[in-house]
Amino acid sequence: MAGRSVVVGVGHYLPERVVPNAEFEKTLDTTDEWIRTRSGIERRHFAAEDETTSDLATKAAKAALADAGLTADDIDAIVLATSTADLTFPSAATMVQARLGMTRGFAFDVQAVCAGFVFALSNANALILSGQAKRVLVIGAETFSRIMDWTDRSTCVLFGDGAGALVLEEQEGQGTAQDRGILATDLNSDGRYKDLLYVDGGVSTQSTGHLRMQGNQVFRHAVEKLARTAEVALERAGLTGDDVDWIVPHQANIRIIQGTAKKMGLPMDNVVVTVQDHGNTSAASIPLALSVGKQRGQIKPGDLIVTEAIGGGLAWGAVALRW
Ligand code: UT7
Repeated sequence: MAGRSVVVGVGHYLPERVVPNAEFEKTLDTTDEWIRTRSGIERRHFAAEDETTSDLATKAAKAALADAGLTADDIDAIVLATSTADLTFPSAATMVQARLGMTRGFAFDVQAVCAGFVFALSNANALILSGQAKRVLVIGAETFSRIMDWTDRSTCVLFGDGAGALVLEEQEGQGTAQDRGILATDLNSDGRYKDLLYVDGGVSTQSTGHLRMQGNQVFRHAVEKLARTAEVALERAGLTGDDVDWIVPHQANIRIIQGTAKKMGLPMDNVVVTVQDHGNTSAASIPLALSVGKQRGQIKPGDLIVTEAIGGGLAWGAVALRW
Protein backbone atom coordinates (compact mmCIF):
# COMPACT_ATOMS: atom_id res chain seq x y z
CA MET A 1 0.00 0.00 0.00
CA ALA A 2 1.15 3.56 -0.67
CA GLY A 3 -0.27 7.04 -0.24
CA ARG A 4 -1.12 8.78 -3.51
CA SER A 5 -2.16 12.33 -4.37
CA VAL A 6 -5.21 11.83 -6.57
CA VAL A 7 -6.93 14.51 -8.66
CA VAL A 8 -10.55 14.68 -7.46
CA GLY A 9 -11.53 18.01 -9.04
CA VAL A 10 -10.45 20.38 -11.78
CA GLY A 11 -11.64 23.78 -12.98
CA HIS A 12 -10.57 26.94 -14.74
CA TYR A 13 -11.46 30.55 -15.35
CA LEU A 14 -10.66 32.82 -18.29
CA PRO A 15 -11.27 36.59 -18.31
CA GLU A 16 -14.12 37.75 -20.55
CA ARG A 17 -12.09 39.84 -22.97
CA VAL A 18 -10.85 37.81 -25.95
CA VAL A 19 -8.23 39.43 -28.17
CA PRO A 20 -7.68 37.94 -31.64
CA ASN A 21 -4.28 38.22 -33.37
CA ALA A 22 -5.67 40.79 -35.83
CA GLU A 23 -5.93 43.28 -32.95
CA PHE A 24 -2.12 43.55 -32.85
CA GLU A 25 -1.96 44.43 -36.56
CA LYS A 26 -3.37 47.86 -35.65
CA THR A 27 -0.45 48.88 -33.42
CA LEU A 28 2.50 46.66 -34.35
CA ASP A 29 4.43 45.56 -37.43
CA THR A 30 2.97 42.05 -37.24
CA THR A 31 0.33 39.85 -38.85
CA ASP A 32 -2.18 37.23 -37.82
CA GLU A 33 -0.37 34.94 -40.27
CA TRP A 34 3.04 35.39 -38.54
CA ILE A 35 1.62 34.79 -35.06
CA ARG A 36 -0.35 31.70 -36.16
CA THR A 37 2.44 30.05 -38.11
CA ARG A 38 5.29 30.81 -35.68
CA SER A 39 3.42 30.14 -32.42
CA GLY A 40 0.06 28.46 -33.15
CA ILE A 41 -1.71 31.21 -31.18
CA GLU A 42 -4.98 32.59 -32.61
CA ARG A 43 -6.44 34.48 -29.65
CA ARG A 44 -5.88 35.04 -25.94
CA HIS A 45 -7.86 36.38 -22.96
CA PHE A 46 -6.83 39.56 -21.13
CA ALA A 47 -7.98 40.44 -17.62
CA ALA A 48 -10.06 43.59 -17.11
CA GLU A 49 -8.26 46.58 -15.60
CA ASP A 50 -9.64 45.91 -12.12
CA GLU A 51 -9.27 42.12 -12.34
CA THR A 52 -6.27 40.61 -10.55
CA THR A 53 -4.50 37.27 -10.42
CA SER A 54 -6.22 36.35 -7.14
CA ASP A 55 -9.62 37.11 -8.77
CA LEU A 56 -8.89 34.62 -11.56
CA ALA A 57 -7.41 32.11 -9.10
CA THR A 58 -10.43 32.27 -6.78
CA LYS A 59 -12.84 31.58 -9.66
CA ALA A 60 -10.76 28.63 -10.89
CA ALA A 61 -10.50 27.29 -7.32
CA LYS A 62 -14.28 27.50 -6.85
CA ALA A 63 -14.80 25.61 -10.12
CA ALA A 64 -12.37 22.88 -9.03
CA LEU A 65 -14.03 22.57 -5.60
CA ALA A 66 -17.47 22.31 -7.25
CA ASP A 67 -16.14 19.62 -9.61
CA ALA A 68 -14.81 17.70 -6.57
CA GLY A 69 -18.07 18.16 -4.65
CA LEU A 70 -16.07 19.71 -1.81
CA THR A 71 -16.01 23.03 0.05
CA ALA A 72 -13.15 25.17 1.34
CA ASP A 73 -13.61 23.51 4.77
CA ASP A 74 -12.36 20.28 3.24
CA ILE A 75 -9.04 21.81 2.10
CA ASP A 76 -5.89 21.78 4.24
CA ALA A 77 -3.56 23.78 2.00
CA ILE A 78 -3.43 26.01 -1.07
CA VAL A 79 -0.34 26.04 -3.29
CA LEU A 80 -0.61 28.76 -5.94
CA ALA A 81 1.86 29.04 -8.83
CA THR A 82 2.22 32.58 -10.17
CA SER A 83 4.79 35.18 -11.21
CA THR A 84 2.17 37.94 -11.28
CA ALA A 85 0.75 38.09 -7.74
CA ASP A 86 -1.58 41.02 -6.92
CA LEU A 87 0.79 42.46 -4.32
CA THR A 88 4.43 42.10 -3.34
CA PHE A 89 3.03 40.44 -0.23
CA PRO A 90 1.01 38.72 1.13
CA SER A 91 0.89 35.79 -1.24
CA ALA A 92 -1.92 35.53 -3.76
CA ALA A 93 -2.60 32.13 -2.17
CA THR A 94 -3.55 33.67 1.19
CA MET A 95 -5.83 36.13 -0.61
CA VAL A 96 -7.58 33.19 -2.29
CA GLN A 97 -7.73 31.43 1.07
CA ALA A 98 -9.60 34.40 2.59
CA ARG A 99 -11.96 34.71 -0.35
CA LEU A 100 -12.85 31.04 -0.21
CA GLY A 101 -13.72 31.52 3.47
CA MET A 102 -11.02 29.06 4.52
CA THR A 103 -9.94 29.87 8.08
CA ARG A 104 -7.62 26.96 8.86
CA GLY A 105 -4.72 25.27 7.13
CA PHE A 106 -2.10 27.21 5.19
CA ALA A 107 -1.50 28.81 1.80
CA PHE A 108 1.57 29.98 -0.10
CA ASP A 109 2.77 30.92 -3.58
CA VAL A 110 5.31 29.10 -5.72
CA GLN A 111 7.29 31.05 -8.30
CA ALA A 112 8.89 29.08 -11.11
CA VAL A 113 7.45 31.14 -13.98
CA CYS A 114 6.06 28.96 -16.81
CA ALA A 115 7.16 25.80 -14.99
CA GLY A 116 5.36 27.01 -11.86
CA PHE A 117 2.44 24.60 -11.99
CA VAL A 118 4.70 21.56 -12.26
CA PHE A 119 6.67 22.83 -9.24
CA ALA A 120 3.44 23.53 -7.34
CA LEU A 121 2.06 20.07 -8.11
CA SER A 122 5.29 18.42 -6.99
CA ASN A 123 5.27 20.45 -3.74
CA ALA A 124 1.61 19.68 -3.09
CA ASN A 125 2.34 15.98 -3.62
CA ALA A 126 5.20 16.20 -1.10
CA LEU A 127 2.87 17.85 1.45
CA ILE A 128 0.40 15.01 1.05
CA LEU A 129 2.97 12.21 1.10
CA SER A 130 4.65 13.67 4.22
CA GLY A 131 1.32 13.80 6.06
CA GLN A 132 1.13 17.60 6.29
CA ALA A 133 -2.11 17.87 4.31
CA LYS A 134 -4.84 15.50 3.19
CA ARG A 135 -6.40 17.73 0.53
CA VAL A 136 -4.57 20.47 -1.35
CA LEU A 137 -5.86 23.03 -3.84
CA VAL A 138 -3.17 23.51 -6.48
CA ILE A 139 -3.70 26.62 -8.59
CA GLY A 140 -1.90 28.23 -11.53
CA ALA A 141 -2.99 31.83 -12.15
CA GLU A 142 -1.44 34.69 -14.09
CA THR A 143 -2.04 38.17 -15.45
CA PHE A 144 0.96 38.35 -17.79
CA SER A 145 -0.77 41.18 -19.67
CA ARG A 146 0.48 43.39 -16.80
CA ILE A 147 4.15 42.78 -17.61
CA MET A 148 4.02 43.06 -21.40
CA ASP A 149 5.95 45.69 -23.33
CA TRP A 150 3.23 46.54 -25.85
CA THR A 151 5.84 47.93 -28.26
CA ASP A 152 7.78 44.61 -28.38
CA ARG A 153 6.16 42.47 -31.08
CA SER A 154 8.44 39.52 -30.29
CA THR A 155 6.81 39.02 -26.85
CA CYS A 156 3.49 40.83 -26.39
CA VAL A 157 1.62 38.76 -29.00
CA LEU A 158 2.48 35.50 -27.22
CA PHE A 159 1.01 35.75 -23.72
CA GLY A 160 -2.45 35.68 -22.14
CA ASP A 161 -4.21 35.71 -18.76
CA GLY A 162 -6.09 32.90 -17.02
CA ALA A 163 -6.24 30.42 -14.17
CA GLY A 164 -6.71 26.70 -13.58
CA ALA A 165 -6.94 24.61 -10.43
CA LEU A 166 -6.85 21.01 -9.24
CA VAL A 167 -7.97 19.46 -5.97
CA LEU A 168 -5.54 16.76 -4.84
CA GLU A 169 -6.66 14.25 -2.22
CA GLU A 170 -4.68 11.62 -0.34
CA GLN A 171 -5.89 8.13 -1.23
CA GLU A 172 -4.40 4.68 -0.72
CA GLY A 173 -2.85 3.01 -3.76
CA GLN A 174 -1.06 -0.28 -4.32
CA GLY A 175 2.29 1.40 -4.90
CA THR A 176 2.25 0.44 -8.58
CA ALA A 177 2.07 2.48 -11.79
CA GLN A 178 -1.56 1.37 -12.11
CA ASP A 179 -2.51 3.57 -9.12
CA ARG A 180 -4.49 6.73 -9.67
CA GLY A 181 -2.72 9.94 -8.69
CA ILE A 182 0.76 11.42 -8.98
CA LEU A 183 3.20 8.63 -9.79
CA ALA A 184 6.47 10.57 -10.17
CA THR A 185 7.85 14.07 -10.65
CA ASP A 186 11.06 15.63 -12.00
CA LEU A 187 12.15 19.23 -11.29
CA ASN A 188 15.13 21.15 -12.69
CA SER A 189 16.52 24.65 -12.95
CA ASP A 190 19.70 26.28 -14.22
CA GLY A 191 20.11 29.93 -13.24
CA ARG A 192 22.89 30.50 -15.75
CA TYR A 193 20.17 31.05 -18.37
CA LYS A 194 18.54 34.02 -16.62
CA ASP A 195 19.10 36.39 -19.54
CA LEU A 196 17.05 34.27 -21.96
CA LEU A 197 13.75 35.06 -20.21
CA TYR A 198 13.25 37.53 -17.37
CA VAL A 199 11.40 40.64 -16.21
CA ASP A 200 13.65 43.71 -16.15
CA GLY A 201 12.28 45.00 -12.85
CA GLY A 202 11.18 43.91 -9.40
CA VAL A 203 10.84 45.02 -5.79
CA SER A 204 14.55 45.07 -5.02
CA THR A 205 15.37 46.96 -8.22
CA GLN A 206 12.50 49.40 -7.48
CA SER A 207 10.43 49.01 -10.64
CA THR A 208 7.78 46.71 -12.06
CA GLY A 209 9.51 45.90 -15.32
CA HIS A 210 8.54 44.12 -18.52
CA LEU A 211 9.05 40.61 -19.81
CA ARG A 212 12.16 40.20 -21.97
CA MET A 213 12.78 37.03 -23.97
CA GLN A 214 15.25 35.71 -26.47
CA GLY A 215 12.53 33.48 -27.90
CA ASN A 216 14.60 31.51 -30.37
CA GLN A 217 17.19 30.71 -27.64
CA VAL A 218 14.47 29.49 -25.25
CA PHE A 219 13.04 27.47 -28.13
CA ARG A 220 16.40 25.75 -28.61
CA HIS A 221 16.42 24.53 -25.00
CA ALA A 222 12.73 23.70 -24.84
CA VAL A 223 12.19 20.58 -26.96
CA GLU A 224 15.22 18.68 -25.66
CA LYS A 225 14.73 19.57 -21.99
CA LEU A 226 10.97 18.94 -22.09
CA ALA A 227 11.25 15.53 -23.75
CA ARG A 228 14.01 14.52 -21.30
CA THR A 229 12.18 15.66 -18.14
CA ALA A 230 9.01 13.86 -19.28
CA GLU A 231 11.04 10.69 -19.86
CA VAL A 232 12.67 10.97 -16.43
CA ALA A 233 9.28 11.35 -14.69
CA LEU A 234 7.94 8.36 -16.62
CA GLU A 235 11.06 6.27 -15.85
CA ARG A 236 10.68 7.06 -12.13
CA ALA A 237 7.13 5.75 -12.35
CA GLY A 238 8.34 2.60 -14.15
CA LEU A 239 6.66 3.69 -17.38
CA THR A 240 7.64 4.70 -20.93
CA GLY A 241 6.16 6.91 -23.65
CA ASP A 242 4.12 3.90 -24.86
CA ASP A 243 2.09 4.02 -21.64
CA VAL A 244 1.08 7.68 -22.09
CA ASP A 245 -2.53 8.49 -22.99
CA TRP A 246 -2.08 12.28 -22.90
CA ILE A 247 0.80 14.68 -22.93
CA VAL A 248 -0.56 17.86 -21.32
CA PRO A 249 2.25 20.29 -22.11
CA HIS A 250 2.89 23.88 -21.17
CA GLN A 251 1.16 25.83 -23.95
CA ALA A 252 3.79 28.27 -25.24
CA ASN A 253 4.22 27.39 -28.89
CA ILE A 254 2.62 24.70 -31.08
CA ARG A 255 6.00 23.99 -32.70
CA ILE A 256 7.57 23.24 -29.28
CA ILE A 257 4.56 21.04 -28.41
CA GLN A 258 4.85 19.14 -31.72
CA GLY A 259 8.64 18.81 -31.44
CA THR A 260 8.42 17.42 -27.90
CA ALA A 261 5.72 14.90 -28.79
CA LYS A 262 7.77 13.75 -31.79
CA LYS A 263 10.90 13.35 -29.66
CA MET A 264 8.84 11.27 -27.22
CA GLY A 265 7.58 9.13 -30.12
CA LEU A 266 3.94 10.11 -29.67
CA PRO A 267 1.46 11.42 -32.28
CA MET A 268 -0.36 14.73 -31.80
CA ASP A 269 -3.55 12.66 -31.21
CA ASN A 270 -2.14 12.06 -27.73
CA VAL A 271 -1.56 15.74 -26.92
CA VAL A 272 -4.00 18.20 -25.34
CA VAL A 273 -3.57 21.50 -27.22
CA THR A 274 -5.14 24.78 -26.09
CA VAL A 275 -2.44 27.26 -27.16
CA GLN A 276 -4.59 28.50 -30.07
CA ASP A 277 -7.25 29.80 -27.67
CA HIS A 278 -5.25 30.90 -24.61
CA GLY A 279 -1.77 31.88 -25.80
CA ASN A 280 0.96 31.36 -23.23
CA THR A 281 -0.60 31.77 -19.77
CA SER A 282 2.61 30.80 -17.97
CA ALA A 283 1.86 28.86 -14.74
CA ALA A 284 -1.85 28.70 -15.61
CA SER A 285 -1.42 26.88 -18.90
CA ILE A 286 -1.22 23.27 -17.65
CA PRO A 287 -4.21 23.35 -15.25
CA LEU A 288 -6.16 25.24 -17.93
CA ALA A 289 -5.32 22.51 -20.45
CA LEU A 290 -6.22 19.75 -17.96
CA SER A 291 -9.59 21.38 -17.29
CA VAL A 292 -10.36 22.01 -20.96
CA GLY A 293 -9.11 18.51 -21.87
CA LYS A 294 -11.55 17.01 -19.38
CA GLN A 295 -14.41 19.23 -20.63
CA ARG A 296 -13.73 18.17 -24.22
CA GLY A 297 -13.97 14.52 -23.17
CA GLN A 298 -10.32 13.86 -24.02
CA ILE A 299 -9.08 13.11 -20.48
CA LYS A 300 -10.90 10.24 -18.73
CA PRO A 301 -10.48 8.49 -15.36
CA GLY A 302 -7.57 6.06 -15.46
CA ASP A 303 -5.71 7.87 -18.25
CA LEU A 304 -1.94 8.18 -17.87
CA ILE A 305 -0.93 11.81 -18.22
CA VAL A 306 2.47 13.45 -18.41
CA THR A 307 2.66 17.22 -17.97
CA GLU A 308 5.83 19.14 -18.80
CA ALA A 309 6.84 22.80 -18.77
CA ILE A 310 9.82 25.11 -19.15
CA GLY A 311 10.23 28.82 -18.53
CA GLY A 312 12.22 31.62 -16.96
CA GLY A 313 15.15 30.54 -14.83
CA LEU A 314 15.47 28.47 -16.78
CA ALA A 315 13.26 26.18 -14.71
CA TRP A 316 11.64 23.03 -16.10
CA GLY A 317 10.03 19.80 -14.99
CA ALA A 318 7.40 17.12 -15.48
CA VAL A 319 4.78 15.17 -13.54
CA ALA A 320 3.49 11.71 -14.43
CA LEU A 321 0.03 11.05 -13.03
CA ARG A 322 -2.91 8.76 -13.55
CA TRP A 323 -6.20 10.69 -13.76
O1 UT7 B 1 6.73 29.91 -21.77
C1 UT7 B 1 8.06 30.23 -21.53
C2 UT7 B 1 8.92 29.69 -22.56
N1 UT7 B 1 8.82 30.47 -23.76
C3 UT7 B 1 8.75 29.86 -24.91
O2 UT7 B 1 8.67 28.67 -24.95
C4 UT7 B 1 8.86 30.69 -26.16
C5 UT7 B 1 9.86 30.05 -27.04
N2 UT7 B 1 10.05 30.70 -28.28
C6 UT7 B 1 9.13 30.83 -29.26
O3 UT7 B 1 8.00 30.45 -29.10
C7 UT7 B 1 9.57 31.36 -30.60
O4 UT7 B 1 10.97 31.51 -30.57
C8 UT7 B 1 8.92 32.70 -31.00
C9 UT7 B 1 7.46 32.47 -31.35
C10 UT7 B 1 9.05 33.67 -29.84
C11 UT7 B 1 9.61 33.28 -32.23
O5 UT7 B 1 9.65 32.34 -33.29
P1 UT7 B 1 11.01 32.06 -34.06
O6 UT7 B 1 10.67 31.16 -35.17
O7 UT7 B 1 12.02 31.58 -33.06
O8 UT7 B 1 11.39 33.47 -34.65
P2 UT7 B 1 12.65 34.40 -34.34
O9 UT7 B 1 12.62 34.88 -32.93
O10 UT7 B 1 13.89 33.71 -34.79
O11 UT7 B 1 12.32 35.63 -35.28
C12 UT7 B 1 12.17 35.50 -36.69
C13 UT7 B 1 11.82 36.85 -37.25
C14 UT7 B 1 12.72 37.98 -36.76
O12 UT7 B 1 12.99 38.82 -37.86
P3 UT7 B 1 14.40 38.72 -38.62
O13 UT7 B 1 15.43 39.02 -37.57
O14 UT7 B 1 14.48 37.34 -39.16
O15 UT7 B 1 14.25 39.78 -39.67
C15 UT7 B 1 11.83 38.72 -35.80
O16 UT7 B 1 12.15 40.10 -35.70
O17 UT7 B 1 10.47 37.23 -36.92
C16 UT7 B 1 10.46 38.56 -36.41
N3 UT7 B 1 9.38 38.71 -35.48
C17 UT7 B 1 8.12 39.04 -35.86
N4 UT7 B 1 7.59 39.31 -37.07
C18 UT7 B 1 6.28 39.59 -37.13
C19 UT7 B 1 9.38 38.55 -34.13
N5 UT7 B 1 8.16 38.75 -33.63
C20 UT7 B 1 7.35 39.06 -34.69
C21 UT7 B 1 5.98 39.38 -34.81
N6 UT7 B 1 5.50 39.63 -36.04
N7 UT7 B 1 5.14 39.41 -33.75
